[in-house]
Amino acid sequence: MAVGYGGLRGRAYLCGMLTPRQLFLRYQAQTSDFPLLLEIERAEGVYMYGPEGQRYLDLISGIGVSNVGHRHPRVIQAIQNQLDKYLHLMVYGELVQAPPAQLAHALHKTLPTHLDSVYFTNSGTEAIEGALKLAKRHTGRTGLVSCLNAYHGSTHGALSITGSEGFKNSYRPLLPDVHHIRYNEPADFSLIDEHTAAVVIETVQGEAGVRVSEPGYLPALRQRCQEVGALLILDEIQCGFGRTGTFWAFEQFGVQPDILVCAKGMGGGMPIGAFISSQEIMSGFKTNPILGHCTTFGGHPVSCAASLATLQAIQQENLLAGVAEKAARFRRQLVHPAIRAIRGCGLLMAVEFESFEVLKPIIDRALFHEGILTDWFLFCDNSLRLAPPLIIADDEIDAACAALLRAIAFVCN
Ligand SMILES: Cc1ncc(COP(=O)(O)O)c(C=O)c1O
Repeated sequence: MAVGYGGLRGRAYLCGMLTPRQLFLRYQAQTSDFPLLLEIERAEGVYMYGPEGQRYLDLISGIGVSNVGHRHPRVIQAIQNQLDKYLHLMVYGELVQAPPAQLAHALHKTLPTHLDSVYFTNSGTEAIEGALKLAKRHTGRTGLVSCLNAYHGSTHGALSITGSEGFKNSYRPLLPDVHHIRYNEPADFSLIDEHTAAVVIETVQGEAGVRVSEPGYLPALRQRCQEVGALLILDEIQCGFGRTGTFWAFEQFGVQPDILVCAKGMGGGMPIGAFISSQEIMSGFKTNPILGHCTTFGGHPVSCAASLATLQAIQQENLLAGVAEKAARFRRQLVHPAIRAIRGCGLLMAVEFESFEVLKPIIDRALFHEGILTDWFLFCDNSLRLAPPLIIADDEIDAACAALLRAIAFVCN
């Protein structure tokens, strides 16, 4: 007993002595053997700051989250206002709470009229789960079609439709009746038939390394879905909320979904997601069984307040107007023989190099010598991820490009 007590005390003492970095490595579950290990103490706008005041320019927005920048004043104010009223009150959908109700209305105003029913979740993958269930419930079918190299999340349903065998093989059995088509390949539409409940597709593919669809591809997919009675689910978790220069990416592609899924940038830094459909489709959750989809925290009032402020910031500060020109500014300056291509849609961009072996030292050099945070993609490791906050200023883009070019020159020249 005495030994145990002493051991506990010793451990507590030790904990007090360990740095956050040591605690992170020792006690926080790791998902790779090579985490970035960058310690951040605070963040503001497009910058993050380390404990010794080191400044990092954030060119990836927490993977598409901080579209309005870190700690946007409107978002902070909205969170503070809500903190003074209430936090969680009750599980989803019972009590009337202004933040989710007002957010649902504000979202609807950005959308085609048929998308008028919003179900809030805590994350992107949960929103995908809800959308898959809804499609199966509405159509009475089981087939799901998604794209190769698509990423839709890490829970079992979302993982099932993720288009990478390597990523999901160790977790089988997954959902049955899932079929993959090639993005941008209408020839594969033959896999979509009267058995298909839904086709799930990212309007602009993110983790595949930013793949933008050919003109006419998404409308043709829409038509195929219509012909066979399958629902079209657009995943705008990464490409929505202004990232591509329109509020929703689908606005640029002449297509409208039956179910829209969003998250990430939606919360301005707070956890929230949603799947959005028509009243008619969504009503499937009301019967047989009732409470067809439940969540304790989905639609959390603080996250909803933050999300509404985020939406208003994008609209009222006209953040969409600058996106195309900012992307063009990156493209004009990022010129180097080692850069093989730049793909993108608005400020969701991928800069392609020959290989991961070339790219990784560039990313490391940019981070540790230039203070520029970038990344690669889950299913495309030869391309540099560029997805800065939409508020990034011209001089910050110029500084970022100069720093990236110095890092590229250091590694490649
Ligand atoms: C297109 C897309 N769908 C779904 C997800 C999953 O979202 P979350 O990480 O919030 O579960 C992601 C996350 O990167 C994504 O990029």
